[in-house]
Amino acid sequence: MNVDQVLQNAESAVGQARDEASLEAVRVRYLGRKGELTALLKSLGRMDAAERPKAGAAINAAKERLQASIADRKQALVGEQLTAEIAAETVDVTLPGRRPAAGGLHPVTQVIARVEGIFTGAGYDVVAGLEIEDDYHNFEALNIPHHHPARSMHDTFYFGDGTLLRTHTSPAQVHVMESQEPPIRVICPGRVYRRESDLTHTPMFHQIEGLVVDRGIGFAHLKGTVTDFVRRFFDCDLALRFRPSYFPFTEPSAEVDVQCVNCLGSGCRVCSNTGWLEIMGCGLVHPNALEMSGIDSETWSGFAFGMGGDRLAMLLYEVNDNRMFFENDLRFLRQFN
Ligand code: DAH
Repeated sequence: MNVDQVLQNAESAVGQARDEASLEAVRVRYLGRKGELTALLKSLGRMDAAERPKAGAAINAAKERLQASIADRKQALVGEQLTAEIAAETVDVTLPGRRPAAGGLHPVTQVIARVEGIFTGAGYDVVAGLEIEDDYHNFEALNIPHHHPARSMHDTFYFGDGTLLRTHTSPAQVHVMESQEPPIRVICPGRVYRRESDLTHTPMFHQIEGLVVDRGIGFAHLKGTVTDFVRRFFDCDLALRFRPSYFPFTEPSAEVDVQCVNCLGSGCRVCSNTGWLEIMGCGLVHPNALEMSGIDSETWSGFAFGMGGDRLAMLLYEVNDNRMFFENDLRFLRQFN
């Protein structure tokens, strides 16, 4: 076979090589130690001396050309491979991003913040109080002595060293009255604990306490405050009624019912067909409670109220089972984000 033909075959093989391995096979086949062009070079020795220089030059030229073709092809293959890799790895920047899962505030936390917002807007301070209380602050100073029947209503968790888990936020009132001079305007939200657990009770729940002590405070101030609060909280004009009631630390005492947020008073399952929902206990601070905390009941008077944070959240968000607040089922909680 002559040089031109070998070169032609070799170049077409180079052109057909699809990757670096097959290109290397082509190189070995033509330029390797036993390659076809190498064989032609070796055959020079058997040639006439007169033809040798010309044939030698032609073979060497062919060899150089083939080496150059192989190098070019190799570069092209590397480039193709890179382009393919980049194409495979491209990021479509027009795709919508993946958002990080955002957390949210628990519905009861949101309700407490809403209540705090309403009262701080009216000049009240927010006071935390203590979750571990002593008998004195939880009961005694609230006019609930040892023998008092109201104690049995509280189903208290006792620690055995005179301390207990507070059964209501009212002891926060005592701490405020002990440490602040009137005029006082505070609300005290927080967790409270009772030994009860059934359809409508959880051993831990939330209360929000309010206390105002000033000169000349009377029931009208309490009524006005509660009415205004309810209007703002539910964002509508619901009817209210104050039912006479009894708490040892207030006199007179009342429980406040609001027109049912679900049926607006016509009667439904939520309000047990009464048309009313109880939302808080309240009253004028008992003179004994003022005096025990060092406030002169001749000069000062006050009102107080206490309401359930979980209950308010149920009414505001129309949740019909308060255990849902404590199960932490994300499908439930996500609705409040
Ligand atoms: N501490 C009461 C309870 O847990 C609620 C309450 C009633 C608080 C009347 C008050 C109040 O401040 O004046 O049932």
